[in-house]
Amino acid sequence: MIPDETEIERPQNPHGDAGSGDTRAKTVFIKSYGCQMNVYDSQRMADSLAPTGYVETSNPDEADLVILNTCHIREKAAEKVYSEIGRLRVARDERRRQGGDLKIAVAGCVAQAEGQEILRRAPAVDLVVGPQAYHRLPDLLAKADGTSKPVDTDFPVEDKFSILPPPRRDKTLARGPSAFVTVQEGCDKFCTFCVVPYTRGAETSRPVAAIVAEVERLAEAGVREISLLGQNVNAYHGEGPDGRAWTLGQLVHRLARIEPVVRLRYTTSHPRDMDDTLIEAHRDLPALMPFLHLPVQSGSDRILDVMNRKHTAAEYLKLIEKIRHVRPDMAFSSDFIVGFPGETDADFEATLRLIEEVTYVSAYSFKYSPRPGTPGAGMTDQVDEAVKAARLARLQALTEGQQKTFNQASIGRTMDVLFDRKGKRPGQIAGRTPYLQAVQIEADDSLIGTVAPVEITATGAWSLHGVLAGADLREAVA
Ligand code: SAH
Ligand code: SF4
Ligand code: F3S
Repeated sequence: MIPDETEIERPQNPHGDAGSGDTRAKTVFIKSYGCQMNVYDSQRMADSLAPTGYVETSNPDEADLVILNTCHIREKAAEKVYSEIGRLRVARDERRRQGGDLKIAVAGCVAQAEGQEILRRAPAVDLVVGPQAYHRLPDLLAKADGTSKPVDTDFPVEDKFSILPPPRRDKTLARGPSAFVTVQEGCDKFCTFCVVPYTRGAETSRPVAAIVAEVERLAEAGVREISLLGQNVNAYHGEGPDGRAWTLGQLVHRLARIEPVVRLRYTTSHPRDMDDTLIEAHRDLPALMPFLHLPVQSGSDRILDVMNRKHTAAEYLKLIEKIRHVRPDMAFSSDFIVGFPGETDADFEATLRLIEEVTYVSAYSFKYSPRPGTPGAGMTDQVDEAVKAARLARLQALTEGQQKTFNQASIGRTMDVLFDRKGKRPGQIAGRTPYLQAVQIEADDSLIGTVAPVEITATGAWSLHGVLAGADLREAVA
């Protein structure tokens, strides 16, 4: 007799444990804060756990393991982590009441900066792993049994990228046609406001061959746009196949030969490291997108000097001019800090003047946040919070106005768009122009993963709208 379903007896395991014979996969939810390098690292952490049976989930409520990949750049960013751990602790207590469990791991730059201190402030945390040690995650997890709480903030001599397993092809496809690849890590610049040289360590570059292999694998899986990442990406000096240190300009030339890749980008660059090989690559390589994030922070020479940025406002403007000379349609974005110690009204006005002179298509601006261990935090002439807030509002009004003008000037233009996901509404797909503007159009999903010319018809609050400009003109790149 075949029993009906209600008669089938299943052994009940009150602990929800994977007992012998139970093959339920464990799930991991990874939340990324901060920069794109953390997004890339989160993907690599997921890849490193895949062989141990962890499947990634986008739903924290069903995860067996939650990893917070944290950012320490400003106080607000760092503090967010503790409120999130508080929420997770409540969720875990509830689960334990029901016989389940949840592991909580802290990774990233707060992990590096605070290490053991995290366990003291937040005893709910099971393990702490810094950004240079996450290839050891499977081992650390095996050790984290509730009583032992591993903390690994080493800067190991081994190269984590050469140890980490690559993602499976289906995983790469699921992540979409635009991918990040870290090529450089760490920073030797020591700007006086910044924690990155402490959290990420000294500048290192991956060898050209390793990057080429990773990009070829991504391209083969359908990736069409690669954004090369580094805290100081244009200081890249990885070993080339000839045994010499290659510049980023040389690297992008090599990557442009991997044909299915139609777009190359890189971020974040330091003005001091924009060498001629890279500038000329913008002239010579159609795949290298005409958009550059080139943070200047301030337009005042006095403040730039105290920030240890190692260039003047005039040198920065000259550099912008030089890049526009080889690539006239180049669009720029920047980061700005307002209220750095000692910043006067006159210094701030100089920043506004520089913004007017350059004209940015987008910008990120922040109130200065004193960070423990950086020279800026010890400076005596800290600026009042209300003054910082007023300056930030003025600066943002200016940069938002510039962005709006740029977007409005796009109406009527036809631009190539790489479609990378479904749109906001059914029947829509979304993508980006060469200048990183978001675009929504009504079109079939099958265009996702391809580049097509779009005539821009309107601008919305967050994105441009347009129509396909002659389907027969479409570049078949898929
Ligand atoms: N490597 C990049 C920046 C990394 S941090 C560069 O050199 O430009 C990203 C941005 O955060 C910085 O450009 C800066 O504008 C901002 N930032 C860094 N430290 C900060 C601090 N202490 N307070 C406010 N903003 C800060
Ligand atoms: Fe920080 Fe300056 Fe290095 Fe950028 S260049 S990561 S702002 S120290
Ligand atoms: Fe934040 Fe670390 Fe990136 S401090 S901005 S996550 S390098």
